[in-house]
Amino acid sequence: MSSSLLWFGAFGGQICKRLPPLLLTGFALSRDLALTLTELMTAIVVNSKLLLILIQKVIVVTQDMQTVLVTGGAGYIGSHAVLALQNAGYNVVVLDNLVYGHKDIVDNTLKTELIIGDTNNRPLLDQLFSTHSIDAVMHFAAYAYVGESVNNPSKYYHNNVTGTLTLLDAMVDADIKHFVFSSTCATYGVPKAVPIVEDHPQNPINPYGATKLMVERMLADFDVAYDLRSVCFRYFNAAGADPEGRLGEDHHPETHLIPLVLQTALGKRESISIFGTDYPTPDQTCVRDYIHVSDLAEAHVLGLDYLLKGGESTKFNLGNGNGFSVKEIIEAARTVTGHPIPAVECDRRPGDPPSLVGSADRARSMLGWHPQYADIETIIRHAWTWHQKRHSKVA
Ligand code: UFG
Repeated sequence: MSSSLLWFGAFGGQICKRLPPLLLTGFALSRDLALTLTELMTAIVVNSKLLLILIQKVIVVTQDMQTVLVTGGAGYIGSHAVLALQNAGYNVVVLDNLVYGHKDIVDNTLKTELIIGDTNNRPLLDQLFSTHSIDAVMHFAAYAYVGESVNNPSKYYHNNVTGTLTLLDAMVDADIKHFVFSSTCATYGVPKAVPIVEDHPQNPINPYGATKLMVERMLADFDVAYDLRSVCFRYFNAAGADPEGRLGEDHHPETHLIPLVLQTALGKRESISIFGTDYPTPDQTCVRDYIHVSDLAEAHVLGLDYLLKGGESTKFNLGNGNGFSVKEIIEAARTVTGHPIPAVECDRRPGDPPSLVGSADRARSMLGWHPQYADIETIIRHAWTWHQKRHSKVA
């Protein structure tokens, strides 16, 4: 036997001696590996299944999301309504002609689709309704300067009445049956009794109020003839701003009391004018019912939910049921801002009713609406936060 054979014999012997444990170790290793692979495969399969379920859920949720067209969604009340709708899980498309609305708010804050155009543009509406699956329309787009409506009623009838009629016609043809309408307490005119309830007679004293009342009447007829269901919200004085400071009131020109008072506090104006100090009210200045814009927005979501669940056409006042005089508002703003806010007493502004205070009991009981920010100092504080932010940017 050669030495090599001897060596092989010895080595082979060693191998043969060690073979069983080696084989066992290899078997154990491969078994461990096999288990790991199985676990890995199981994990992949389970995770893929989970991923698939998740994707399916996302698709179902997206498909289930209802889409609301908000006209005037780039404006003050409309933009707050868009935010409330988004928070409630609705998909929103904004239609706004940007005459008074703000594109940057829709693009940067609301981050939703903006279609720029008029409600009077029927081809645009037809295209919009044929390319988007719209479940309901919330209609804020309107001109709303009471004084201007007296001097230029044609502008108001064309936009507020004809524009809304065009929109309603397009909705009927597109088979869209739910409509939430931004109406106003200006449809009541000078009230016979306060707080004003919904069945109080409607006798507007200016073209702006008349245009809104005409739409309310059209809606009643469209319900009977075309089964188009609507909720009309008659607001009292919308005020305040998004509590998180994302949105607020930014009219050009500005005519409303609270923003003008805050501009005075910011030093943008020398003084605030008090229009009329001979009214039959406790301090002889006009009394209004100020309602937080986010509370208004919330009511719109509730009104929409009500309609989508099959509710009949109806009307609601939206107010707090508390009146504050012009002098009380200025005083509250002095407290909130810490600024002196000089005020100058002036003649009455034409067309101002002495006192407008609404009862919103109906909205509370039928819609379950609970205003969160009824306190006037809270309303002014939220507006103040917004004004400081907005004016520091545009200054
Ligand atoms: N006011 C002043 N000084 C000003 C601005 C307003 O004293 O510089 C007074 C007004 O005369 C009024 C009160 O503050 O008595 C509130 O005036 P706003 O302009 O803020 O609000 P209005 O009550 O005139 O108008 C609001 C809505 C309208 C709606 C109307 C219903 O803005 O869209 O309520 O009366 F039609």
